[in-house]
Amino acid sequence: MRHLLSAADLDRAQAVTVLDVAEQMAATQRREIKKLPTLRGRTVVNLFFEDSTRTRISFEAAAKRLSADVINFSAKGSSVSKGESLKDTALTLEAMGADAVVVRHPASGAPHRLAHAGWTRGAVVNAGDGTHEHPTQALLDAFTMRRHLVENATGADLAGRRVAVVGDVLHSRVARSNVLLLNTLGAHVVLVAPPTLLPVGVEGWPCEVSYDLDATLAGAHGDLDAVMMLRVQAERMNASYFPSVREYSRRYGLDARRVGLLPDHTVVMHPGPMNRGLEISADAADSPRSTIVEQVTNGVAVRMAVLYLLLAGARDLAPAGPPADEVALTEGVLP
Ligand code: NCD
Repeated sequence: MRHLLSAADLDRAQAVTVLDVAEQMAATQRREIKKLPTLRGRTVVNLFFEDSTRTRISFEAAAKRLSADVINFSAKGSSVSKGESLKDTALTLEAMGADAVVVRHPASGAPHRLAHAGWTRGAVVNAGDGTHEHPTQALLDAFTMRRHLVENATGADLAGRRVAVVGDVLHSRVARSNVLLLNTLGAHVVLVAPPTLLPVGVEGWPCEVSYDLDATLAGAHGDLDAVMMLRVQAERMNASYFPSVREYSRRYGLDARRVGLLPDHTVVMHPGPMNRGLEISADAADSPRSTIVEQVTNGVAVRMAVLYLLLAGARDLAPAGPPADEVALTEGVLP
């Protein structure tokens, strides 16, 4: 695999490899000196045409911890505001020699275009395209679930685990990537949303669909292992998708009462940024079973793994065996 554009690019073995390498990366991040020389001399460009806090910082930290040179480009304040196209921006960056381009763009499909139109020779990583996909978010979510829900996680998938993904599925690239990856990893997904916030064609997705949050949390689809809340993406809404904020929270918001319906081991997740008081209450977000802050931490290790496998590993995400310099990573040969 040369690029990571969709969660569906990964088969089960490849996805498990990313999670296992991310575990090794996480172990290096507990050391006093967090930096590895693995990508020394390589250049990673972060190309962000859309606002981002977590994802941009996370990719930057990941690339820097691997000693890559990092160029951060954000559309605001650049020639994009003068009308320069994705193509010309990409060609400019290509002229500077990018080994990897991490791209976030409001148009679904922009990273595919970048990867396949020959505008860059680098590996393209989709960091969120429109309402389409966000594969590294799905990987960090799966990594977080595996840590909490699977004993002896290394080498394991999420077979048999049950995950509810709740809220604004229509505008969520996180939901689509999660459904695809969780399905690949053997988990069972139920999407919970009002009918107005489900995309056309959702019946073709490899998951169940429910309109009833209380019934789902109470076990109507079997005991849940994880509940992932999605942000209501007001900035992508050009019409009214629900009667009122109050009504949305009442039917689809996660609050303390609803958390109380869950089995003890179930984790509460959210990719951030949160609308506290809308899709999730403060007490649910800050409860001991919330993994929301940990998801951000795990994002760095997962993105280190993705950059490592695309740039330093064999160009293929080899399904079998550890990466070539695993010894260096695990035995602390490297600083
Ligand atoms: C998500 C995104 O940008 O798609 N956030 C993220 O990457 N952490 C979800 C969102 O914006 O609601």
